[in-house]
Amino acid sequence: MAFRFDPYDPKIDADPFPAYKVLRDDHPCFWSEEAGMWVLSRYDDVLAALTNWRTYSSSKGNLIDEFPGRAGSTLGSSDPPRHDRLRALIQSAMTKRALDHILEPARASCAAHLAEIADRDVFDFVNDFGSKVTVDLLFYLFALPRDQAEQVRDNAVLMVQTDAKTRQKSAEHLAAFHWMADYAEKLVQERKRNPGEDLLSGFITAEIDGEKLLDKEVQLTVTTLIMAGIESLSGFMGMFALNLADHPEARRALVADPALIPDAMEESLRFNTSAQRFKRTVMVDTELHGQTMKAGDAVMLAYGSANRDERMFPNPDLYDIARRPKRHVGFGGGVHSCLGAMLARVACQIVFQEFLKAVPEFTRVDEKLAWVPSSNFRSPQVLRLRRG
Ligand code: HEM
Repeated sequence: MAFRFDPYDPKIDADPFPAYKVLRDDHPCFWSEEAGMWVLSRYDDVLAALTNWRTYSSSKGNLIDEFPGRAGSTLGSSDPPRHDRLRALIQSAMTKRALDHILEPARASCAAHLAEIADRDVFDFVNDFGSKVTVDLLFYLFALPRDQAEQVRDNAVLMVQTDAKTRQKSAEHLAAFHWMADYAEKLVQERKRNPGEDLLSGFITAEIDGEKLLDKEVQLTVTTLIMAGIESLSGFMGMFALNLADHPEARRALVADPALIPDAMEESLRFNTSAQRFKRTVMVDTELHGQTMKAGDAVMLAYGSANRDERMFPNPDLYDIARRPKRHVGFGGGVHSCLGAMLARVACQIVFQEFLKAVPEFTRVDEKLAWVPSSNFRSPQVLRLRRG
């Protein structure tokens, strides 16, 4: 039977790595009928695409299943020079030093949610802890009112999903996007009237070279920041916790020496990242591995596969926290490399320090996991852990 690669197949959510290996070895530039796009899976090819935005453009959207009207208007879905100017408005708030003020609130949030599960032998890492801490952190950083916290979280989770049967966003996913866009719009209007010191106020009221940002640009970028902040971070924490449940020797090393947490996080981003695949569009006819990608064709950059490429990472299927994989693409690369990378790094360091202090020994309860159905992302919907 001819090889197929279907990013909507629940089997791919459960374990994409065998298919990635076939792609890398036998079909390094593969046309996926199911996705309706080319798939690049080798590290060198993915990196080359990431560093050549003129050929591999984000302006037609970077999500495998894009939301209507979003392409061209957000950071992730625009090209330089517009992209760089939008990015410059937020970047200074995302440096390590600028994020110092989140340390104490992050610790306090961990303490509060760890106390809630303190007397439970079994708890759900994603919904009882990781997701709650992420919401607290992002709400603090963006100075969002707490009254709709649960709805914001639920809609952020729905926004990253796709319907495996119809192979697109369902009415429910689109409704979540519209809910978040509405929420962002109200926020934008409110911050314009009463700007504060928070990250969003700075962005919303900014001008670039005397030119105001377009209302649509501001609204969609705020929508995306909330979604990316909440769902990417919480999804990744779920994957990190899963890796530590599956690799007790690594977990014990972190408990004994929490200074190793950053190294373990980088290895998790390489080994099992939540942001598996993003999209680009080829702007000129491009030959690669004997195939011709035509101008206008969509291309999937399979970060999750590039990070397991044996041509780049020796023994790639081994989770080794001493590896220090500096050049992984867990945060993407090039002009679109993750804007929230430092925030994610600072947050995970605190969250896992506090978590491992409170719960040093744990095992996974369910052998088979329910995965977030998504053509872009991969993370467990629920991760039940048992203490001891
Ligand atoms: C560990 C958690 C995270 C992971 C694994 C992750 C992953 C990624 C990846 C792979 C990209 C590249 C997308 C592409 O190539 O088109 C990206 C971009 C982006 N991420 Fe993250 N992300 C995380 C956390 C965050 C957080 C916490 C925020 C915001 C608060 C954020 C905001 C963004 C934005 C705005 C972009 C677009 C940047 C641009 O195009 O210039 N991310 N992220």
